[in-house]
Amino acid sequence: MTESTYVGAVDQGTTGTRFIVFDHGGQVVANAYETHEQIYPEPGWVEHDPMEIWENTKSVITQALGQAGISPDQLEAIGVTNQRETTLLWDADSGRPVHNAIVWQDRRTTDRVEQLEAEEKVEMIREKTGLEADAYFSATKAEWLLDNADPIKLERSRPEDIHDRAEKGEVLFGTIDSWLIYNLTGEHITEVTNASRTMLYNIHDLEWDDDLLAEFGVPEAMLPEVRPSSDDDTYGTTDPDGFLEAEIPVAGALGDQQAALFGQTCFDAGDAKNTYGTGSFFLMNTGSEAVASDHGLLTTIAFQKSGEDVQYALEGSIFITGAAIEWLEDLSLIDNPAQTAELARSVDSTDGVYVVPAFTGLGAPHWDQRARGTIVGMTRGTRREHIVRATLESIAYQTRDVAEAMEADSGIEMTSLKVDGGAVKNNYLCQLQSDIIGSEIVRPVVDETTALGSAYAAGLAVGYWDDVDSLRDNWQIDREFEPEMDADRADKRYARWTEAVDRARDWARD
Ligand code: G3P
Repeated sequence: MTESTYVGAVDQGTTGTRFIVFDHGGQVVANAYETHEQIYPEPGWVEHDPMEIWENTKSVITQALGQAGISPDQLEAIGVTNQRETTLLWDADSGRPVHNAIVWQDRRTTDRVEQLEAEEKVEMIREKTGLEADAYFSATKAEWLLDNADPIKLERSRPEDIHDRAEKGEVLFGTIDSWLIYNLTGEHITEVTNASRTMLYNIHDLEWDDDLLAEFGVPEAMLPEVRPSSDDDTYGTTDPDGFLEAEIPVAGALGDQQAALFGQTCFDAGDAKNTYGTGSFFLMNTGSEAVASDHGLLTTIAFQKSGEDVQYALEGSIFITGAAIEWLEDLSLIDNPAQTAELARSVDSTDGVYVVPAFTGLGAPHWDQRARGTIVGMTRGTRREHIVRATLESIAYQTRDVAEAMEADSGIEMTSLKVDGGAVKNNYLCQLQSDIIGSEIVRPVVDETTALGSAYAAGLAVGYWDDVDSLRDNWQIDREFEPEMDADRADKRYARWTEAVDRARDWARD
C-alpha cells in the first residue's frame, strides 16, 4: 500500500505559531500551536523574539507530525503564512537577529510618519505602494532598526557599521515569512504579498523601489529576492541534516490575510472575506487591476501563481478586534473569550455605551495614528455586561466602517461575506455582524483558512493539487447568518458609533 501524502503549513501569527497538516480534501489532519512572548519595552512599542519564533516553529512542526504519526517524508510540500509587516534584521554570518522584531502594531515611528506627511510624501508613497503612510508598515521599522539596533549583537562586532554591513548584504532585512524561509531552507527570499506590505515595494512595477529605499536608507543588498506566492521553482528545501531530517520543498508563502483570502477560494474579482484575529482584515479580490481607494482602503497584492500575473486586492485593516476581547480578559471582566456571548446576551443593549478599542491608533478607513481607546456613554448604572457587549459590537461596527468604504470604492454592493478566524466560532458575534452590516455572513467548515491558503499555494506549486478549481470543490459552508435586526435600528446605532469614533481621534500627544 502506498503511504498517504500531505501538505503542511506554518501559520506564524501575532500571538502564536501553528503547524497544520492538510490532506488532499483540504481537511485538517494534525494541528499544533504554541504562543510566544509579547514584549512591550515602552508604551506603544511591541516586539517579538525571532529566535523564540523559530524555536516554536520547529516545535509545532515536530509535535503535529508526531500527533498524526506522519513521517516528514509524507509531506509533499510546506507552505508558510505569517503576521505581515513585522520586521527584523539579522546577521548573515551567524543567522542571529540583531534586535527583536518590531511588530506591526508598534507605534515607535509615528513621528517619522508625521515628518513624511509634513514633507508631502504621502501621495508618492500611496501611488507606488498602494499603502497609507503609517508606522504599521515595515519601512520606518527597518529604518529605526538600522539606526538603533545594538551592533554588539553582530557576529563580527564593529559598532559603527550596521549600515555599512547592510550595504554589503552582511546584515539582512526580512519580514517573518523571510525569516522562516531563511531558517527552513537557507535562502533569503520573500514573496509578493509580503513585499507589498513593506512600503518599500512598488506594486505596479513589481520591484523594490529606489526612491523609497533612498528615503528610508535601506540598502538593496540587504533585501530578499521577491518570488511568486506559489512557486513551481520552490523557494528551497528543508535541510536533510536539519531538525526534520528530510528534504521537503518549501514552495508557497502568503501574508496571513492574503492566505485567508486564498484559503476561502476568493480567486475571482469581487470575492471578499473578513478574518477575525488580533485585528480584522477585510480583503476583496480586484483581479489583475490595482484599484486605488478614495475611501481609506489599501491597495495590495492578493497573490501570484507561478508564471501568471499578480492579482490585487482592496484591504481594510482594522488593528484591534480579537485583541479587545483579550483586553477584557486582562481586566478580569471575563474569564475566557467564549463568555462574551453569554454576558452580552444577558442585557438587551449596551445601554448607550460605545467602546472604541483604538489602542494602537485607528487603521482603515480612518488612519489616525494618535487615536486611543475610548469608552463613551457610561452612567452609574453601567455594568460589565454592557462594556462586554459594547466591545463585541465594536468589532461589528469597525467591520461596517470598512464594508462601506469597500462598497464605495468597488461599486459592488455586498450581499454576502465569507468570514474566518478564531472569533467566528462565536455564533453571537456572527449574528451581530450580519445585523450591523446588513448582509449574509458565511462561515466555512474549515475555519483555519489562513494555514489552508498557504498549504494550497505550496501544494499547487508541487502538483499536489492540479488547479484552483479542485480547491473550490474543497470549500464547504458550515453555517450562514442572515440579518435579523431592522435596518433602521442598525443604521441609528451605527451613526452613534461614528460619533464615538470621532471622540477617540487624535488623542495621544507626546
Ligand atoms: O497585518 C497584520 C496581520 O497580518 C496580523 O494578523 O492574524 O497575526 O493578527 P494576525
